[in-house]
Amino acid sequence: MASTDVELAPIAEGQAVTVMWRGKPVFVRHRTAAEITAAREVPLSQLPDPQPDQARVQKDGWLIVVGICTHLGCVPLGQKPTDARGDYGGWFCPCHGSHYDTSGRIRKGPAPRNLEVPQYTFTSDTKIRIG
Ligand code: FES
Repeated sequence: MASTDVELAPIAEGQAVTVMWRGKPVFVRHRTAAEITAAREVPLSQLPDPQPDQARVQKDGWLIVVGICTHLGCVPLGQKPTDARGDYGGWFCPCHGSHYDTSGRIRKGPAPRNLEVPQYTFTSDTKIRIG
């Protein structure tokens, strides 16, 4: 399937879902105000792969990233509230200890790049199409 539609309305603030797109997991996270603030307050100079949060989202509350660690391809933890989310509140890759922040950016560990933002569009206020 070339594209994947995701209904956002059922995803409460603070929750996340994983959908499959072209055989890859894609993380869709409804960020809290605190998560957005955390992502925006970090100076770019502290980021191994410097990208402003604003360049990685289309709407502040919604972060959509490919759920594959950019080190060696494990699926990071952090989708469930009970998961370890690492030192920066985003995702933690247990394979070799990469920590991602609430913008999906690599902050610590061996991963060289931020989690990839796939191409997507908002087809309505509460729906996205990935791909
Ligand atoms: Fe994620 Fe190595 S695959 S840290």
